[in-house]
Amino acid sequence: MLLRAEGISRDYFRNGRDTNFFTAVKKTDLEIEKGSCTAVSGRSGSGKTTLINMLSGLLTPTEGRVLFDGEDIYAMSDSTRAAFRNRNIGIVPQGQTGLKSLTVLENILLPAVMYGNEKDKTEKARKLMKQLSIEDLEDVFANELSGGELRRMAIIRAMINSPRMIIADEPTGDLDDISTEAVMKLFDDCIKNGCAVIIVTHEAECLSLLDVPVTTLRVDDGVIKTQSR
Ligand SMILES: Nc1ncnc2c1ncn2[C@@H]1O[C@H](COP(=O)(O)OP(=O)(O)O)[C@@H](O)[C@H]1O
Ligand SMILES: [Mg+2]
Repeated sequence: MLLRAEGISRDYFRNGRDTNFFTAVKKTDLEIEKGSCTAVSGRSGSGKTTLINMLSGLLTPTEGRVLFDGEDIYAMSDSTRAAFRNRNIGIVPQGQTGLKSLTVLENILLPAVMYGNEKDKTEKARKLMKQLSIEDLEDVFANELSGGELRRMAIIRAMINSPRMIIADEPTGDLDDISTEAVMKLFDDCIKNGCAVIIVTHEAECLSLLDVPVTTLRVDDGVIKTQSR
């Protein structure tokens, strides 16, 4: 088992009428295997981002534990967890990300420069950029990119350290059909190489582009239900 979530839940503080917190993700157990693909679907505000942020080491659960390879990631210090995450878990965040004052290539190489092994990843970055048709943007600053270009950059950045798990929050939301196909092909390759991939998506069609089995987690008002297909 690559990742095991034991009884995780997450409350947020909110100034409501009778209570000052509400539960965005209710108590959940989950297991993610090496080389598996998991889709997370559900309505806006149902708790998808909260769930995957807990799984990726970005958001401490109110209760419960997240074990990656048997290691309790939230028992680590912040700096140890940041290094652990950058080596083992590739994250494609929701919304647009990237350091605007760095070029596309510099953004992509950042996790490798900060936390990777010594090996130069430039060739790998170029190969992935070509696969997602952004190779001509290598030296362009991130603040000059369109939403779809930034998204493709973030996807490659998540893959650069060959993580054991990739968690992508609506990775194809702002992509056209051709880019979506290319991105799903990269995810497919990662899965076949043993990487566990978790994709939050509204778009069931993009999942049909994968030729690996997909387990779907349906999130409804903070309650997670598993559906296999
Ligand atoms: N930092 C936060 N503080 C308070 N409430 C939050 C915070 N982040 C998300 N929420 C609330 O938690 C619920 C679930 O949000 P989220 O996990 O982002 O849902 P989804 O990704 O499915 O759209 C929503 O009602 C949202 O308003
Ligand atoms: Mg979300």
